[in-house]
Amino acid sequence: MTKRAAKRGAANRDVAYRGVSRATIRRDEARYLMNTYKRPAVVFTHGKGSYLYDDRGGKYLDFLGGIAVNSLGYSHPRIVKVVRREAGRAIHLSNLFHNQFQGLLARKLAAWSGLDRVFFTNSGTEAIEGALKIARAYARAQAANGSAPKTRILALTGSFHGRTFGSLTITYPAKYREPFMPLVPGADFVKFNDIADLEARFDSGVCALVMETIQGEGGIFPVSEAFWNRARELATERGAALIADEIQCGLGRTGRAFAYQKFKVLPDIVTIAKPIAAGLPLGAILANEVFSSALSPGMHGTTFGGGPLVCATALEVLKTIEDEKLMKNARERGAELVRGLKELTGRFDFVREVRGEGLMLGLDLSVEGTPFVEAALERGLIMNCTHDHILRFLPPLNIRSAHVKEFLSKLESVFVETPRPKSIGAESAKGAAKVATPPKWTPAESRETAMPLAAR
Ligand SMILES: Cc1ncc(COP(=O)(O)O)c(C=O)c1O
Repeated sequence: MTKRAAKRGAANRDVAYRGVSRATIRRDEARYLMNTYKRPAVVFTHGKGSYLYDDRGGKYLDFLGGIAVNSLGYSHPRIVKVVRREAGRAIHLSNLFHNQFQGLLARKLAAWSGLDRVFFTNSGTEAIEGALKIARAYARAQAANGSAPKTRILALTGSFHGRTFGSLTITYPAKYREPFMPLVPGADFVKFNDIADLEARFDSGVCALVMETIQGEGGIFPVSEAFWNRARELATERGAALIADEIQCGLGRTGRAFAYQKFKVLPDIVTIAKPIAAGLPLGAILANEVFSSALSPGMHGTTFGGGPLVCATALEVLKTIEDEKLMKNARERGAELVRGLKELTGRFDFVREVRGEGLMLGLDLSVEGTPFVEAALERGLIMNCTHDHILRFLPPLNIRSAHVKEFLSKLESVFVETPRPKSIGAESAKGAAKVATPPKWTPAESRETAMPLAAR
């Protein structure tokens, strides 16, 4: 085949691939994919900046950002350049060998976080698994000769940490855990921001306390400073790891490199993922020297984690956040958004509260949020609803004031033009303060994972 014919062939295949109709895509997905996602009819084909485009030329302002993944928006020229460059060099190199970017990226993450060492993973849930393993390994290494190591793991009500067994065990909503019981033994949930409950459950058998600095899936709930400080004291006293899950709230989203940097004391271990490599699969565990020392060669590993392509991309993401001053932008655009959202709170009686920091924001409603999400999509605005009634906004960190204005005006017309959705349950409708305490943990739910009551 001549070079020209080969080129023509490739181009035709590309057209055929891109020309697949919406109906065919939906039919094939319905027939061949496992039944795990409920998707709207739209098929997105590409994005540019803060906008996504569909197969019919529709344009959408994206205020979900791939659930906090697309922090630089779509097809950022610096990211496209690095991905192209590294794809032509080496997409993967085994972790049995050095690569040019892991050390550089780890050094930058250490500088951003205030921690010492890094292990690269492929996803958020894998970072959580590794963090739990480090806490268990550290506890085992510390156990005096013959004594049983600490194995209990505490998490918070309302938490979401991922879908693999360890992460799932410490994810609070029963609907995620129950179909897969039994899970990992030794886990228990502390009431969110409840210091007395923390003190009661943090006994000498605890090896780790895991918490999202700001709960994302849980509905944009920040951990209080008093709770964080007490958690730090107890973890230090009992030789347990304080683990901050910054998979959704970290890497500039709150206007700080890490959400926990608003507090004065550091966690021992931090997990990150989502935005780190602009959408390529990469996560990481960051830990101080004390807990990192629990690992030695052979104890933990991964095939893909930290390959040269993803690490080079991640390095470019972090440098772009620095060069384009995107943390400052997150603070400023976030403040504009909060002002606009608060105005809506006054105008629509079903809007109860605005929560969050920087560009991680939630709007708590007294009615169901999904009809608004659907109406927004029809009007070219992408947003999300968590816990049935909390609208969640996670736009790219490089949005401009014009995007904020466009978003607020679209959201307002959605609120005006959508028939009022059903009110949510009486319990949650009592007001924002009530909602701020996630639902009660019942013994029936905890049977598989909690310590026996007598041991608490
Ligand atoms: C706070 C938090 N932790 C962990 C995870 C799991 O990350 P992944 O989906 O990459 O496994 C998520 C995902 O939404 C998350 O928001």
